Amino acid sequence: MVMKLIAIATTGGDAPGMNAAIRAAVRTAVAENLKVIGFTRGYAGLLADEFVPLDSRAVGGMIHRGGTFLKTSRAEAMKSEDGISKATYVLRKNGVDGLIVIGGDGSFRAACDLYRSSGIPTVGIPATIDNDLVGTDTTIGFDTAVNTALEAIDKIRDTATSHERVFVIEVMGHNRGFIALEVGIGAGAEVILIPEVKYDTEVVCQKLEESYDIGKKSGIIVMAEGAGNCMDVTEAIGEKTGFEVRLVRLGHVQRGGSPTAYSRLIACKMGAASIRFLLDGKKKDMTGIQAGQIVPVDLEYATATNKPIDEQLYRLALMLAV
Ligand code: F6P
Repeated sequence: MVMKLIAIATTGGDAPGMNAAIRAAVRTAVAENLKVIGFTRGYAGLLADEFVPLDSRAVGGMIHRGGTFLKTSRAEAMKSEDGISKATYVLRKNGVDGLIVIGGDGSFRAACDLYRSSGIPTVGIPATIDNDLVGTDTTIGFDTAVNTALEAIDKIRDTATSHERVFVIEVMGHNRGFIALEVGIGAGAEVILIPEVKYDTEVVCQKLEESYDIGKKSGIIVMAEGAGNCMDVTEAIGEKTGFEVRLVRLGHVQRGGSPTAYSRLIACKMGAASIRFLLDGKKKDMTGIQAGQIVPVDLEYATATNKPIDEQLYRLALMLAV
């Protein structure tokens, strides 16, 4: 089939670098004489048949902007057969020959269902701060989120040291600890709590007390969202150790801001490669990055398996946190 019209949508949680990926996909498509439209508000806009034409100028001045200018949403409707058939109808009605979905695991699960229903070739660009997709070493936005969190924690450490306090800092990652692990290492955290590794608050307290005995009068605990209730952990540590403990939830500050050089670079590479994958006849793939190389990965596989945490990195974090 000859490709003429490509549709792009950014869906699920926004991630810094999404705009750079749209820009790269659009400009590559234009260079290949393809027309491009962008559905707005993610799958919600697709279901409502809302889109804008995209050409090279429409994506100018976007590379450094966080968020997504196409806007996004978490579209529950795509979990139902009705939603998938409606989306299929909209894609066919507009004569879409290829679809690019820029998002994370939920977005890709819906994209697989949509492909099964529509038969329209679909390529997913992994963009989520969580970095929880298997088949790709990293995702657009992850590096930016890690750096944003680090910058905040460096500031918090000033107060931790000055007041001799312990800070529990909750970072994003609803089920996974990829952000917490890298942020914890980079911040030199005394303790890193992630959902993939069981922990005991008693042991955390012991570790803080031992550190205190050898002269460390403050502490940073980096905790992933999915690793339990951070308020309970903060309270328990305060009660058991008698340390002055404060809780900081970094929250959505980690999702915003200008993408780092690395997030922009992979967004450019992935955006361009996605168009090439469609032109090469790929049907249902994710544009992954493995050992620095852009590779196609089955989209189903990317969402069906759990990405393992780097155990060596976790052990390194433990060894360095003395
Ligand atoms: O998936 C990205 C993410 O930022 C998670 O880390 C977080 O748990 C979730 O999205 C928050 O979602 P929302 O912005 O919809 O509340």
